[in-house]
Amino acid sequence: APIAPPDLSKCGAADSAAFVESLNCCPPFSAQIVDFKPPPTSRVRVRPPAHAVDSAYTAKFNRAVQLMKALPDSDPRSFKHQASVHCAYCDGAYEQVGFPNLDIQVHGSWLFFPFHRWYLYFFERILGKLINDPNFAMPFWNWDAPAGMQLPAIYTNTRSPLYDQFRNKRHLPPALVDLDFNGVDESISNQAQIQANLTILYRQMVSNSRSTSGFLGQPYRAGDNPQGSGSIENIPHGPVHVWTGDNTQPNGENMGNFFSAGRDPLFYAHHSNVDRLWNVWKTLGGRRQDYTDPDFLDTAFLFYDENSQLVRVKVRDCLDSRKLGYVYQDVDVPWLNSRP
Ligand code: C2O
Repeated sequence: APIAPPDLSKCGAADSAAFVESLNCCPPFSAQIVDFKPPPTSRVRVRPPAHAVDSAYTAKFNRAVQLMKALPDSDPRSFKHQASVHCAYCDGAYEQVGFPNLDIQVHGSWLFFPFHRWYLYFFERILGKLINDPNFAMPFWNWDAPAGMQLPAIYTNTRSPLYDQFRNKRHLPPALVDLDFNGVDESISNQAQIQANLTILYRQMVSNSRSTSGFLGQPYRAGDNPQGSGSIENIPHGPVHVWTGDNTQPNGENMGNFFSAGRDPLFYAHHSNVDRLWNVWKTLGGRRQDYTDPDFLDTAFLFYDENSQLVRVKVRDCLDSRKLGYVYQDVDVPWLNSRP
């Protein structure tokens, strides 16, 4: 059977609450749940690469995030609660309905891509609503191309709502991301780092992703623990988190830990790129197709939408981003030519 959506009335302490003071990841409660209906998609939102946006876009995005940060804590659309969504679904705050000894865990399985896609979808809809622009599209951190391999500049202005002080100080621009960062800074030339990154992407997107499970991860059904992540979730998704987080904080906050990752606005751009790679993967041909198993398709999650309405969504409704009203700006995929 598919993993059922959580029972919000049973949201409990996150695992990290054992060592992080006053951590509470639970959303405000609501008993009123509606089923997701695909939005009219007459106009498609195009998510741009964060390193290439202009000042008008930046001003708008800043304003949206600022407004989200200004919402009161009681509002499920507030930045605080949006950040906590990640903590709740990834750090043991929800038990599986019918299996009180098992948590819902959206990493390490076929739920990784769909869960994060839905999460970003609602985050983007809320931003659009706050600035009265239903066509607003969030940016993606294009770390798979040389021009995007630095931490995007719009996130590094200390006066911007996109700024987060809890990042590794040595990894601010002009440092280039190390896509298989293992905690140790390597001293290699930029040229060598770029080549290493592109080769990693070829390996993870092409060589290790020829099958559905290779890319999306292993099945995860009601009553299970996650059985294994897909290639991209492992690398570079994980290393980019750890590379970004502040190594002088006790738990790698913010990006380097499940409970805190959503507190860094850069999280959403990082995941937007992960989400984009899901779309790219499906264009690569061969047996690169999503699972058709009903346990995958009928897995459901709960999110608050832009009107603070609690919505039940299913994996089956997110497989085509176009049906959710957005696509990614077409950018080069230089790693396709970087076969080792
Ligand atoms: Cu839910 Cu990037 O992890």
